[in-house]
Amino acid sequence: MSESAPTSTPEQLRHAEGITGASILLDKVTKRYPGQAKPAVDGLTLEIPAGKMVMFVGPSGCGKTTTLKMINRLIEPTEGRIVLNGEDVTKKDGDQLRRKIGYVIQAGGLFPHMTVAANIAIVPKMLGWDKERIAARVDELLELVSLDPGVYRNRFPKELSGGQQQRVGVARALAADPPVLLMDEPFGAVDPITRQRLQDELLQIQADLQKTIVCVTHDFDEAVKLGDWIAIFDEGARLVQYDTPERILGDPANEFVENFIGSGAGLKQLTLTRVGDAPLAAAVTGRPGEAAADVLERVKTAGHGHAVIVDARQRPLQWLSRRQLSRLQTISPVLDPKLPVVGSRATLNDALDTMLVSSAGAALVTGRRDAFEGVIDVQTVMAAITKAHEAAAMDSMDAPVGTNTGAIPAAAEPAEPLAAGEGRTGQ
Ligand SMILES: Nc1ncnc2c1ncn2[C@@H]1O[C@H](COP(=O)(O)OP(=O)(O)OP(=O)(O)O)[C@@H](O)[C@H]1O
Ligand SMILES: [Mg+2]
Repeated sequence: MSESAPTSTPEQLRHAEGITGASILLDKVTKRYPGQAKPAVDGLTLEIPAGKMVMFVGPSGCGKTTTLKMINRLIEPTEGRIVLNGEDVTKKDGDQLRRKIGYVIQAGGLFPHMTVAANIAIVPKMLGWDKERIAARVDELLELVSLDPGVYRNRFPKELSGGQQQRVGVARALAADPPVLLMDEPFGAVDPITRQRLQDELLQIQADLQKTIVCVTHDFDEAVKLGDWIAIFDEGARLVQYDTPERILGDPANEFVENFIGSGAGLKQLTLTRVGDAPLAAAVTGRPGEAAADVLERVKTAGHGHAVIVDARQRPLQWLSRRQLSRLQTISPVLDPKLPVVGSRATLNDALDTMLVSSAGAALVTGRRDAFEGVIDVQTVMAAITKAHEAAAMDSMDAPVGTNTGAIPAAAEPAEPLAAGEGRTGQ
């Protein structure tokens, strides 16, 4: 943000410019609500690394929302400190703090009497940006969340679908380029297909912007798909396990976690690998207007069974077998509506879905601007699962610190790095 105090360090400025997210530390944080026998959050210490996406899961009432809202001090902690990028913000002006922390709630939480543009402009306006800058930012953000600015900027929230409202909510939270984004069950209210698309968009946005994102969800699969780290809480925000999705699936800390994962842990591994990370097969390509015989010739030379027809911007149009090619004269520019296509950010699970309905038993993978990148097939998926298993078994990366009071002496930074098994459970 441009209004950083002159006292800001270069480090703070860099973060304030949104180049990367900020680290968050909850330091022995407790929340007691008046009239409640037990604390809603009980002596929680939690490290959230900069630029990562951390998912909070746990049973209803266990303190997820309370923990989340203490980060931007919408709820004030009874005890403990909130540290943002090394700076203790526990006593800082709450309104100022919240301008640096985007907040997204279910259904976007948009103001119904304000247009989409006005909703997104709230924080930039408070920061005193000029009109042109705000207008440009609104359009930029609408593009980022895949809404055509010309169509949507002047609409009111009630004129949008649930998924579109959610997108505007994300755009609003990102408006002033905050280093931190908090999300409380952001995709809880949309249908499964829209939810999948919104998740993919969030992953794309995160890959581009590298914010620090803390996201509460009820859906363990969503946590596995989105999270760099997953924090599993029990009542009183007691941390049961805090680790990578791979290690939680492969090595659940106890029965509570196992129950949380539910059945099909093996299948859930499929949500861990992105299509773009799997080795894709190359394909022979052809263009509309070419003689089909020429394309067929190239397919035969390569020893392939199919050719992918792409348009001038490399977007796939058709996927033709040798037999189909042999029946054609010239390649037409028509788009096959049933083309099995997955984006490179989709999970292997999504890819498998697409493959199973495709007659080719494989799918075309597209990347930026929907350009064709390669082919993914069932063998690739199986190989990627095996590789993921091996990688999870070999991986000895230290988890960030997460504990409740009493487990690890809080200020004691261990002389040696935490072993993989320590510091990630809260017993
Ligand atoms: N304002 C409040 N006053 C008193 N108790 C509260 C208040 N807000 C929350 N609580 C209690 O604190 C505990 C934690 O609530 P919180 O909303 O953080 O849970 P949660 O994990 O987000 O649950 P859910 O998954 O249902 O959203 C619950 O027992 C809840 O009843
Ligand atoms: Mg909640």
